[in-house]
Order: sequence, then C-alpha cells, then structure tokens
Amino acid sequence: MSARARIVGWMLFLVALALSVSLSATWSILLSRLDARVSAELENETEKLRRYVANETPADVKTLLDGWLSVNPPDRWETYFTVVGGRIESIPGGDRPPAALDADENLVRTVARVTERPVAGWTDSTAGRVRYAAIPVQITGDPTIGQFVVAVFYDRHREEVVASVQVLAITGLAALTLAGAAGWFVAGRVLAPIRLVRQTAEAISDSSDLTRRLEVTGNDDVAALAATFNHMLDRLDQAFAAQRRFADDAGHELRTPITVIRGHLELMGDDPHDQRDTLALVNDELIRMNRLVDDLLTLAKAGQPNFLTLEPVELAELPVAVVARARGLADRKWRVDEVAEEYAIADQQRLTQALMQLTANAVRHTQEGDLIAVGSAVRDGHVVLWVRDSGPGVPVEDRERIFQRFERARIAGEGSGLGLSIVRSIAEAHDGRVFVMDAPGGGAQFVLTFPMVAERVETV
Ligand SMILES: Nc1ncnc2c1ncn2[C@@H]1O[C@H](COP(=O)(O)OP(=O)(O)OP(=O)(O)O)[C@@H](O)[C@H]1O
Ligand SMILES: [Mg+2]
Repeated sequence: MSARARIVGWMLFLVALALSVSLSATWSILLSRLDARVSAELENETEKLRRYVANETPADVKTLLDGWLSVNPPDRWETYFTVVGGRIESIPGGDRPPAALDADENLVRTVARVTERPVAGWTDSTAGRVRYAAIPVQITGDPTIGQFVVAVFYDRHREEVVASVQVLAITGLAALTLAGAAGWFVAGRVLAPIRLVRQTAEAISDSSDLTRRLEVTGNDDVAALAATFNHMLDRLDQAFAAQRRFADDAGHELRTPITVIRGHLELMGDDPHDQRDTLALVNDELIRMNRLVDDLLTLAKAGQPNFLTLEPVELAELPVAVVARARGLADRKWRVDEVAEEYAIADQQRLTQALMQLTANAVRHTQEGDLIAVGSAVRDGHVVLWVRDSGPGVPVEDRERIFQRFERARIAGEGSGLGLSIVRSIAEAHDGRVFVMDAPGGGAQFVLTFPMVAERVETV
C-alpha cells in the first residue's frame, strides 16, 4: 500500500470514528430528552386538569370532562379521549390523531380500571408505540368515575429524532467523502517531492553513478531529506574513490617487488656466487612483500568489528615492553619517559603494534647514538602514548599527509608508507587519534591518544 493511501486511510478511519461516536452520542441524548419531554407533557396535562377541576362546579363527571376537552385542545402527535362509566365518552374535535386510540377496546378497558390515581403506560397503535396517562376524575354528588386519557404518539416523535440523526449522518458522510478527497489531494502534493527523491535515488542506484545528486529546493523536511541523501552520496563517493585508489596503490606496490624478483631471476646466470646474491635479493623482496601483505590485511581488518581484543592494559608496562623489544632494532639511546600508573580498557597487542611502527619509523629517521624515547600518561581523561626521537622531525606541511595510506614524505625511505595509517586505524578503533609534533629539543614526537573509559563498546 502506498504511503498516500495509508495516510488517507488512517485519516478517514479517525474521522469516521469521531463521526460515529458523535452520532451515537447525539442519538442517545436526543432519545433521553424525548423520554423526559414526553413524561413532562403527561405530568403537565395531569396538573392542568387538576387545576381545572378545582375551579369548576359541574353537575356530573361527563359535563366536567366535556368542558375540559372543549377548552384544552391536544398538541401535535397527541390525542385525548375520555371514558365515563367504562365506555368511550368523547374525543375532541380538530385534527384527526395519527391513530384512533378510542377504537382500542383493550386500552379502553385498562383505562376504565383506573380509579384511584393517575396511571401511565405504554400501548401499541397503528401509528407505533404510544405513551399515555389515564387520570381518574370523580366529583362530589356523582358516583360515576370518569377517566381523562392523554396519549402521546411516541414513535412519531422518535421518527423525528431518527430523521435529524439521519441528516447528521448524511452530512457527516458527505464531509467524510470531501475530507477523503481533500486528504488524497493534499497527501499527493505533500508526498510528490518524496516520490521524486525516491525515483531519483532509484535512478542513481540503478545506474550506480555516484556523482549524480538530488535537486534540493526549498527548506522543508523533504529538502533536508534530499540534502542528507546527497551528503550520504558524497561520503559513499569518497569512500568508493578511496577504496579504488587503495586497490590501485596496493596493486602497484605489490607489482614492483614482483617485477624486481622476476628481473633478477631472469638475469641469473650459472655462477653459484651470482646465484647466491640473487637469491638473497629475492629473499629481501619477498620479506618486503610479506610485510606489505600483512600491513594491507591489518588495514582491511581495521574497518571490521573484532579488530580490537579489549582487556585492562597496564599503561606503565607498555612503554617498557616496547623499548625492550625495539632495542634490538638498532643502536640508539633508548629511553622510557614518564609512565602512567593506571590501567586502561584497550587492546594491548594493537597498541604495542602501533608503538612498534612508531619506533621503527624513529629508527629509520635517526642515526646511531640518537635518542628515542617512549612514554605513557593519563591527561584530562585521555590515555596519551608517545614515541619521540632526536631526528630531523616532520615538516609542518607533511604532518597531515604522512598518515594517509602509501603517503611518504618527500624523502622516500625504504617503507611502503602504510605504517602510520595502521597507527591511525588503531587509534581510531580506540575512538582516539594520532598526530605528530616537534619533540622537545627537535625531532619528531608521535602522540597516540584516546579516551580513558571504564567500558568500551567496539564500533565499526
Ligand atoms: N620519526 C619520524 N621522523 C621523520 N619522519 C617520519 C617519522 N616517522 C614517519 N615519518 C615520515 O612519514 C612517512 C610515513 O610513514 P609510514 O610509517 O606511514 O611509512 P614508511 O615508514 O615510509 O613505510 P612503512 O612504515 O609502511 O614501512 C615516512 O615515509 C616518513 O617520511
Ligand atoms: Mg613506517
């Protein structure tokens, strides 16, 4: 079902619900008012007759009732008749009532039995149900008992209520239809831009052309949706471009050692001396390739869950262990700077891997006897780990670039340029970052920092 149909459907359902509630309320209110009105009318007639009797002094009951009928004409959908001595005495002139009740012998008999006090009741007639009251009348000096009967054609009044509720229902239905049509129209207009967004999005996804964008007009929710969608496309486009570039670079980087290896093997002669040299060279290249593949795998894993294995990591231990391992790399003045006497929830192996990458870089950019120091601290709720050296440092204009994949500073070293992006991936997996600054007394100081948290939820 389309959104449009759903919206209009719900709207109509709610309006219809409100309408039926109001109809049934109106119906029961009107009916209970009708009942009250009919009862009041019967009481009123009784009271009027009582007053009339009090002021008159007729000779007998028959004269009294005839006199009363002549001065008191019935209202609409009402009729009177009188009974004297058990038989119909008179019915008033004027308009004919909807049904001749005096012809109903049963009723006449019932009424004739009323001698003590007024009695009200229901009876059926050809004009529907009738509510009546029989009022007994007797005067001094005449033993005969007469009855004055006032009857209201209840169903006629009820039909009026039915008619007004019907009118209400019909106008309500008309309003409902109108509201439905208007709702359909309005929903169509409101949803049209969304449909356009959807169609364009479909077209983009069908053609897989990520350079296309939605047109953003106005500043409403739909425009915001289109803008958000465009923003998402920007990011996707960038991500795909980066992925393509990475694949190109990776292919290129792997092709070089392969070419080198093939070249050497092709040129290799029969001289055992020559062969040993060639095999040593080939072995070096294979080691380099192996490292490159390892690095590429690490980077590929960095985007996935389970990249980190979290545990409490002793921050004081980390720099000590790194220096102990790195010492074997080269002859430098190795130092442990300050250490933090705390534990952090982190991945010990990945942090060690990052610090080892940094020390390897530091070794590459320093000479024998130069200083390389590793340290840890906790500052402002952040774990701070660093590796600093007394080498040439990193020029300010390169400080962003060198963290990109396959990016090397102008003086190309031996590496492939993946080390720092691995360090950055490890920092980011810990919700942190890595940056380089001038070390005190010159040289480079690489800082890896991430928030110190009690619990870490790994995010992709
Ligand atoms: N301690 C440092 N002093 C000066 N420059 C540095 C230092 N560490 C890194 N750099 C610069 O940053 C560049 C990128 O470093 P990165 O570790 O990413 O790549 P790499 O060391 O060249 O290769 P790989 O680490 O993959 O073997 C280096 O090529 C170098 O120019
Ligand atoms: Mg490196």
